[in-house]
Amino acid sequence: MLLDLIIYPHPVLKAVAKPIEVFDESLSELIANIVETMHEGAGVGLAAPQVGLSLQLFVVDTSTPEEPSALRTYINPRIILQDKPILWEEGCLSLPGLYREVPTHQHVIIEARDARGEWFREEAHDLRAVAILHEFAHLQGSLFIDRLNPVKRNLTKKYWAKNAAKLTEHTYRDTKLHCKMN
Ligand code: NI
Repeated sequence: MLLDLIIYPHPVLKAVAKPIEVFDESLSELIANIVETMHEGAGVGLAAPQVGLSLQLFVVDTSTPEEPSALRTYINPRIILQDKPILWEEGCLSLPGLYREVPTHQHVIIEARDARGEWFREEAHDLRAVAILHEFAHLQGSLFIDRLNPVKRNLTKKYWAKNAAKLTEHTYRDTKLHCKMN
């Protein structure tokens, strides 16, 4: 089932997410719905706050024809290591049609629980590392535009305020997504 997609600057995107404590069937259903919503929006990641739930949960799917099963769920995650700083052009399903080059890292080690509550550790590079850090930041109430310098950030926020409706409509016109702006 597709979930409503939350568009910036909805306040849930600024909240610090709460840990998940119960690993049951309804959590598995929620994860399936988040994955479906991510795929409908053609994203490589989606975090629970982006569907209006302030929970420490995100999914990343960097699958390619060469690496077809790169979908994973991260619950109550912690970043163990981030290094190799780099500038990367990022986008976000909650800021559709907006892309900016921002500082991030291309090497990350993360620990998280999976849908059954089992802890795992993953080492990621390049796009996958960038996607993991992007989604992790959503759980702290932080968006990629927060990593722009103050001048660019203000310009980008003004640009977004003016163009949000148009960009959202244009980006998702061929999808079944339902967006929530406030
Ligand atoms: Ni995002």
